[in-house]
Amino acid sequence: MNITYDELNKEVKALLSPEDGLLSSACNVVALLWEHLPDCNWLGFYYVDGDILRVGPFQGKIACTKIQYAKGVCGTTWAKNEIQLVEDVHAFPGHIACDSASNSEIVLPINKNNQVFAVLDIDSPSIGRFTEEDREGLALIVSSLEEFLSML
Ligand code: SME
Repeated sequence: MNITYDELNKEVKALLSPEDGLLSSACNVVALLWEHLPDCNWLGFYYVDGDILRVGPFQGKIACTKIQYAKGVCGTTWAKNEIQLVEDVHAFPGHIACDSASNSEIVLPINKNNQVFAVLDIDSPSIGRFTEEDREGLALIVSSLEEFLSML
């Protein structure tokens, strides 16, 4: 990575503008993370809409548009409201393969009013791509997103 997570988080905060609104800000956050996180083949948001997750802003190949509650890594993240760091997606029961190139994945819940509002999903073609450093750094970025959501 050519930038630290602290620096990346500062850039994320700079992009989160109530003036621009949620969708436009989220699109730019995805573009920023996609530019700086190496070895990733899919990166984006799924957001809660009633009893399903729907795909939101992302970079990568065309993805599944809907994910059921508690299904796949994203649905599990929503149901448990806990980060899922998956070293090998093929060993994760029920993993949903949108892009067959994906071998590892990290998904973080994003809360608004103490409920999951969306998830940030990042896939890599490399097994074991995501580390504890990524978990902590991305959790920091998710806190900035949650702070932004609480202002809207
Ligand atoms: N792998 C995810 C599905 C979304 S794609 O990775 C873009 C899952 O199992 O929930």
